[in-house]
Amino acid sequence: MSVTQPPITRELFNEVILPIYAPAQFVPVKGQGSRVWDQQGNEYIDFAGGIAVMALGHCHPVLVEALQKQSEQLWHLSNIYTNEPALRLAQKLTAATFADRVFFANSGAEANEAAFKLARYYATNKISPYKTKIIAFHHAFHGRTFFTVTVGGQPKYSDGFGPKPADIVHVPFNDLDAVKAVIDDHTCAIVVEPIQGEGGVTPATPEFLAGLRQLCDQYQALLVFDEVQTGMGRTGKLFAYEHSGVVPDILTTAKALGGGFPVSAMLTREDIAQVMTAGTHGTTFGGNPLACAVAEASLDIINDSQLLDGVEQRHQWFIKALEEINQRYHLFAAIRGQGLLIGAQLTPEYAGRLREIIQAAAEQGLLVLSAGSDVVRFTPSLIISEQDVQQGMARLHQAIAQVMG
Ligand SMILES: Cc1ncc(COP(=O)(O)O)c(C=O)c1O
Repeated sequence: MSVTQPPITRELFNEVILPIYAPAQFVPVKGQGSRVWDQQGNEYIDFAGGIAVMALGHCHPVLVEALQKQSEQLWHLSNIYTNEPALRLAQKLTAATFADRVFFANSGAEANEAAFKLARYYATNKISPYKTKIIAFHHAFHGRTFFTVTVGGQPKYSDGFGPKPADIVHVPFNDLDAVKAVIDDHTCAIVVEPIQGEGGVTPATPEFLAGLRQLCDQYQALLVFDEVQTGMGRTGKLFAYEHSGVVPDILTTAKALGGGFPVSAMLTREDIAQVMTAGTHGTTFGGNPLACAVAEASLDIINDSQLLDGVEQRHQWFIKALEEINQRYHLFAAIRGQGLLIGAQLTPEYAGRLREIIQAAAEQGLLVLSAGSDVVRFTPSLIISEQDVQQGMARLHQAIAQVMG
C-alpha cells in the first residue's frame, strides 16, 4: 500500500530547519542555464547563480556528464587513499597558478581555516613561536567557522559565541597606513579579498595590494588572498590576483570551483607546504572524487581565454543596463566591481529599501543578491546569454519602477 507523502512547502522550513536563514517565499525546483523554476512553475532569470557559485549556469551538460560518469566509478574512499580526480584537479590548478600544492576541502570557510592554520604553523615553526598575529580588514568575510568568522571584519557575525581566537587585528580596507601601523615581527599573515564580496563588492586598489605584498616581504609574513568569491573566472581572469600582478603566498577558492558541487581548495607554494606533515591537518570529505571530477570539468571549461574574454563583454552589458536604469531613477550612488562580480550601491535615500528591491525583482521573475547593507549584487553565470541579460534587466527595471511607485 503506497503512503501519500504530505506536500513539501515553504512553510515546512519554519518547522524543520535551524532558523538561521530567511529564504524567499518560493521554493525553486529546477534550473537550466540562467533560468530557474519554482514549485508553481514560475520562471526566474538568475543573476545570482547561488552566491557566485553557478559559474556555468544550472545543469551544464558537461558537468552533468562528469558527475554521472564519476557516480558510476567511485564516490568516496577518504584520504586514507588518494584518487584520480583529485590528483588531476590538483595538477591542473597548480599548472594554472603560482601554486605547487593543493589542499581540498568542501567549503570556503574550510579552505580559509586551512590557510590561516597553515600561515600560523609556518610562522611559528619556521620563525618564532610568537609570530601569530593575523591582520585582516573591516567588512571582510572569510566564512563561518569560529576562526574564519573572527578573521572576518564583521563582529556581529562572531559575537555571542564565547571567547574568540586571539591575535587577530582588523584595520580599514584599502588603507595601507593603517596596516603599517599594526604590522610587526609577530605578524604571520595578512588576509585579504581582492574584491570584498559580502562586504559590498569593494575592489582593493592595485596600489593597496602591491603595498601589502611589500609589507609581507619586509616582515616575513604570508600574504593570503581569499578568492573564494573572486576565483574561477568571476573577474575575467582565472583568479583575480592576475589583474594586479601581485602574487599571494596562499590562495583559497571555493564557490564556483565545483559549479554547484561543494568543493574548495587552498593553494600554496612548495616551500610553505613543506612545513606540514602527515596528520597536521585533514578532512573526511576533502578531495572527494565526485566533487573533484565536476570541478575538473568546470576548470577545463572556465580556464579558456575565449570564455574569460566573454566575462568582460558581459560586464559591459551589465554596466550599460544598470547605468540606463540609473539615468531614469537615480537610485545608485556607485556601480562597481570587476567581470561578473558587480555591485550597485544604493544612494543613502534608498539604502533602507534593498530588501524591497530584491523581493520586487523576484516578483518580476529575477534573482539578484544583496552585499552589505546597501548594495545590489550581481553574480550571474559567466556564460549567460545576451538575451537573458537584457530580459533580466528589463525585469529589474520593472521591479525598481514598482518600488519607486
Ligand atoms: C570571500 C569569501 N570567503 C569565504 C566565504 C565562505 O565560504 P563558504 O560559505 O563556502 O564557507 C565566502 C562566502 O560568501 C566568501 O565570499
